[in-house]
Amino acid sequence: MGFAVTFISGDGIGAEVIPAAQQVLEALRLPVDIQHAEAGFATFEQRGSALPDDTLRLCENSSAVLFGATQSPMAKVAGYNSPILQLRRHFDLYANLRPARRGDIDMLIVRENTEGLYSHREHVSEDGRTAIAERVITEKASRRIVQTACEMAMKRRRKLTIVHKANVLKETCGLFREAAFDVVNQFPDLTVDEMLVDSCAMRLVMTPEGFDVLVTTNLFGDILSDLAAGLTGGLGLAPSANVGTGVPVFEPVHGSAPDIAGHGIADPRATILSLGLLLNHLGFVEQATRITEAAYHTEHTGNTAQTTQAIIRALG
Ligand code: IPM
Ligand code: MN
Repeated sequence: MGFAVTFISGDGIGAEVIPAAQQVLEALRLPVDIQHAEAGFATFEQRGSALPDDTLRLCENSSAVLFGATQSPMAKVAGYNSPILQLRRHFDLYANLRPARRGDIDMLIVRENTEGLYSHREHVSEDGRTAIAERVITEKASRRIVQTACEMAMKRRRKLTIVHKANVLKETCGLFREAAFDVVNQFPDLTVDEMLVDSCAMRLVMTPEGFDVLVTTNLFGDILSDLAAGLTGGLGLAPSANVGTGVPVFEPVHGSAPDIAGHGIADPRATILSLGLLLNHLGFVEQATRITEAAYHTEHTGNTAQTTQAIIRALG
């Protein structure tokens, strides 16, 4: 019996990078069946939902999802909910794993993926002059994300950095920090340190080789993972895995890039690296390593099809 995997192109360059990943997967001839599903802003405009029920059913009946990109409007659009945020929530994908590699830099950002400032608890006062966002931090979510980070670090260089801002956010970050230090006690073989998020941002730029695994709350992880991507070749090389309770979702960190969509120039490597994370998750470890090495060692020529072919040749 093979695996069923759902591919969702989504918006913009998603329609170019997902087929590229499909070609790479097909070249490996693995027992994996690909099914395609729709989601994204264009789907919302056509069908009134960014993540229609039939898409959700297909995802539920698969072993993993590879997601391209979705356009996220800067301003509120009535009825629109980002499909990627919906998927994370629907499947309780509480860990967002974001590796960044280049030369001596080899780090993994473990971002909490369900709460913090992404709790959808924003209010505006009646006169419209005050807006408030609630930052929800729970002990349960903090413990499980730190547990995941510790397990990851044990398989790597055994170094963990806990990132927070507990000097200012005494309650929310304070709770996260306390939970984190309690969990790391169960991992005596780890070297653990902590950093305030601002100082972490500076250190990431100055001495990125010093980091192994970082664990942090949702928005800090969102921002620091873009920073890490910028240090290691840009968003073209930044993959991610959303894992947790339900069907895992793998996606490039980049967005739909409407400015370059449709020209055949998008860099497919972040999606191909995300496919590598997906295959590793399904247990195809050897093939995942081959894809990962091929993608990291291939330059993007500026042409999606050419880069994809070069990666397929580099698979050996
Ligand atoms: C990411 C993206 C998403 C996020 C957006 C598109 C909702 O920036 O995956 O990092 O903020 O999580
Ligand atoms: Mn982001």
